Amino acid sequence: MTSASAPGKIILFGEHAVVYGRPALAVPVEQVRATATVTAADHPGIRLRSAATGDDLRLATAPLDHPLAAIVRATLGELEITQDPALEITINSQLPMGAGLGSGAAVSLAIVRALAQHLGSPLSAERQSALAFEVEKLHHGTPSGIDNTVIAYGQPVRYVGGQPVERLAVGRPFRLLIADTGIPSSTGQAVAGVRQRWQADPVSYEALFDTIGGLVDQAAEAIAAGQIERIGSLMDANQQALVAMGVSHPRLEQLIAAARDSGAAGAKLSGAGAGGNMIALVDDRTASAVQTGLRQAGALGILSTEVGR
Ligand code: PMV
Repeated sequence: MTSASAPGKIILFGEHAVVYGRPALAVPVEQVRATATVTAADHPGIRLRSAATGDDLRLATAPLDHPLAAIVRATLGELEITQDPALEITINSQLPMGAGLGSGAAVSLAIVRALAQHLGSPLSAERQSALAFEVEKLHHGTPSGIDNTVIAYGQPVRYVGGQPVERLAVGRPFRLLIADTGIPSSTGQAVAGVRQRWQADPVSYEALFDTIGGLVDQAAEAIAAGQIERIGSLMDANQQALVAMGVSHPRLEQLIAAARDSGAAGAKLSGAGAGGNMIALVDDRTASAVQTGLRQAGALGILSTEVGR
């Protein structure tokens, strides 16, 4: 039996603009993980089961575009295994789906890791990420690749599509609360919506993407220098640009306002928007008041994560 896992992730700065070649910053969230377990089976071929989604399928008959089957096929292809081994793969995930925590990419990476290890050929983070990226395309259409990258490397990253991953330096650890609006958000739909609006008004949208790209670079500097207050102001500015892009949501706005009113140094949506999660920058002094403020404003799950520790 072989088990392997992969963390969740959040985007700190630059979501959506990253689909258009601008940089973005993302960090793994180790508190929530997807796990895949591979065991030898007494039936021929591969059976795949996921408690989270209720899936129970045979690789041989699964649709080509089924994400679980696709990542298994991609991994076997990478390992040049042409005959399906007799295996059972079970997936368990603590990550909520459609909440911007990267559940699809985390599940893919847990499967790649467990399967490659079980078959005696562990893969590099770069190869793992490339395989998961192929499946991200099935989930989201035109993903930037940031989810599979930050999860495969398991460290804070500055990401630009198609370029080598850059590690994001963190001068002083900082704490974020991640709060769920409870409104499921479809990354594919949110990305498609931005694409339509960009096509209708490319000048305004390119300017918004440039603004966000500039904020991301300032944020990377502030994070490297440990300038926590500045990180908060930049989060607020990034949120404004996301509102202008039409990817916020009244529930996100409520949670963001509640976080700021109860002492957060900055707050913004994280991920695709239109629901899903928001993040709030807190410290030891403000964390508990912000958590209470978020809960009173109706936040569902609230996670606390320390970046750079
Ligand atoms: O919803 P998430 O957390 O998977 O984030 C999507 C981030 C986008 O920039 C909107 C899309 C992408 O592929 O980068």
